Amino acid sequence: MTAGRSSAARRIHFGGDYNPEQWPEPVQKEDVRLMQEAGVSMVTAGIFSWAQVEPRPGEFDFDWFDRVLDRLDGGGIRVCLATMTASPPPWLSRLHPEVLPQDADGTRGWPGSRQHYCPSSPVYREHASRLVERLAARYADHPALALWHVGNEYGCHTRQCFCDVSAEDFRRWLRQRYGTVDALNSAWSTAFWSQRYDSFDEVLPPRTAPTFPNPAHQLDYLRFSSDALLECYLTERRVLERITPGVPVTTNLMPNHKPVDAFDWAPHQDVMSLDFYQDPSDPATHVQAAYNFDLMRSARGGQPWLLMEQAPSAVNWRARNSPKPPGRMRLWSWQAVAQGADAVLFFQWRQSLGGAEKFHSAMLPHGGTETRTFREVAELGRELDSAAAREIAGTRAEPAQAALVVDWDSWWALELDSRPSTALNQTEIALAHYRPLFEAGVPCDIVPPDRELGGYRMVVVPNLYLLSESDADRLTAYVRSGGRLLVSFFTGIVDECDRVHPGGYPAPLRELLGLRVEEFWPLQEGRTVRLRGGSSAHGGAAVEGGADLWSEVIDLEGAEAVAEFGPDHPDLAGRPAVTRHAFGAGSVWYAGTRPDAAAMRALTDAVRAEAGVRPVLPELPDGVQATVRRSEPGEPDRRFLFLLNHTEEPAEVPLPEPMSDVLAPQAAPARTVRLAGRGVAVLAPADAGSDAGLKPGTEAEQGAGAGAGEARP
Ligand code: GLA
Repeated sequence: MTAGRSSAARRIHFGGDYNPEQWPEPVQKEDVRLMQEAGVSMVTAGIFSWAQVEPRPGEFDFDWFDRVLDRLDGGGIRVCLATMTASPPPWLSRLHPEVLPQDADGTRGWPGSRQHYCPSSPVYREHASRLVERLAARYADHPALALWHVGNEYGCHTRQCFCDVSAEDFRRWLRQRYGTVDALNSAWSTAFWSQRYDSFDEVLPPRTAPTFPNPAHQLDYLRFSSDALLECYLTERRVLERITPGVPVTTNLMPNHKPVDAFDWAPHQDVMSLDFYQDPSDPATHVQAAYNFDLMRSARGGQPWLLMEQAPSAVNWRARNSPKPPGRMRLWSWQAVAQGADAVLFFQWRQSLGGAEKFHSAMLPHGGTETRTFREVAELGRELDSAAAREIAGTRAEPAQAALVVDWDSWWALELDSRPSTALNQTEIALAHYRPLFEAGVPCDIVPPDRELGGYRMVVVPNLYLLSESDADRLTAYVRSGGRLLVSFFTGIVDECDRVHPGGYPAPLRELLGLRVEEFWPLQEGRTVRLRGGSSAHGGAAVEGGADLWSEVIDLEGAEAVAEFGPDHPDLAGRPAVTRHAFGAGSVWYAGTRPDAAAMRALTDAVRAEAGVRPVLPELPDGVQATVRRSEPGEPDRRFLFLLNHTEEPAEVPLPEPMSDVLAPQAAPARTVRLAGRGVAVLAPADAGSDAGLKPGTEAEQGAGAGAGEARP
């Protein structure tokens, strides 16, 4: 990335959150020296500085912060400058108690922690804007300013507010969405339980009620709440655009973050940024990370993104906080780069001595520079500063041939109460569909349902419970023109207002799927059933094994059964569980249950074989991730193959051509790479200009799948 206006050299930025107000000036001076020692090129400064720069309403003290920025600039460190609005000072809620958020029960979120503001509060937004105005004017021409960091992790703690101010804002939002109260009544199905509204003024947030609040009302409140947070961000962004046009703006999103619709927010960011805290105690943590990294990359059409926060070692907010063993921090940092990140940043630079995060690891731990963490940080800093690593910045991930569709509206609706099963969890389900692609080494985009799908050979639709007619038509057209689609149960059931599509489940997809679901048959907790696989005539292994969570009564209307329920599910034994339907020039596969990991892999492999989607490398040992980044057309050709060994054991990876490891330039080019456990290699073709091998299969090998050879959107 070459963030900012001044022509800083291309590089993968390295650094972290910097909270100088916690330290006296002599320590701040030492900070810059040690940052240089650690190879830091960028810090995110001032996220929680509001109370220090505006100690009393309207009285600003920026002098100390000027010195911080000047020192950083003197040390050659670029600044991702926070707008400082993430945690309002105590005086704001003392003067204006109504800015405090309120939950569905009426409990206030009191000051003394952080993010204690109602997102709809005009008072909060005015005070935030005034601060941003001052900051932007003061630092517009500061040479260290590289980009703006608005707020911090919107919706992390205050996800929704149910106060009277929010109620008023919600009514405004509803008027805009529906125009008339009749339209609202129809959208919310208020003929049910005597809920008819006579005027917008009667509408409240869905506060705690005697029993299930109206689901469409809850769904709209989730939409409204994401929009209210977005409006906070946009309010600040507009100030920045006016005063510092040309300085890029971002806000750090959280992973799997239900309150904030990443696809809605993406067009308003100049660069996506993500906080991801891999959990050293979870063996699948890198798969979750991969999914979120792919989402960041896909949200802005493949543009490089920034890993804004991760921990150098342990965090402080899990029940038991495992440190990252040697090499893991490096491996997971490179994973972000391998998946398109142009910055590897941490929370935080220097470990706090007091406050709630004093036991959260930092680049510079309590123990100082003579610590394993600092040594590993500094080694990574040097590695990312190398000439070869600098070349990676700005390259893009190879276009993916597979896409996985997720949608916040559907997520919100799926997890509401009063469904056939409340055990359906969007993130778990999405990951269960993502994992077989990840493990097969297949690059995958994560896209919303209204994205153009024509460029993908294969599209996976985990439970898309809420599906508009137009998105259903888009999926149908995709298959008709040759696409391969994998759809899972409880998809296409309701419209945008959580009203069942009439005409038998899943009405808008019945013709496409070639089946009807007559009855849902969710499985009780702990119950597993067997799937009896049909033939593997369509490629891949037979789909058999266990399944859980869900089953349903499927009547075939043109589709064929690929697997059926076994005798341990007496009510559905012999009925279809997984189906395939040839449709138009393509085909669609449907899973009416949740297959276990092995069966899901077999199912995904079968669809993949039919679609002609190949992995990055034909032979990839289990637990090794492979990705490719390459320069954009028109630029000098640069290509990098990243190999990441997520296991503890050494692994050998055959290469398609002789390649050299840019992280070990002294080693001779080779056709095999030996990776240590937790090892990383970043390979470039020994013969620059050669194109052999680093593609997910040629067209001839792959057959004419949908959109074969077409550019990705
Ligand atoms: C979040 C916040 C940071 C810090 C870290 C700790 O990501 O943005 O301010 O609290 O968590 O892990």
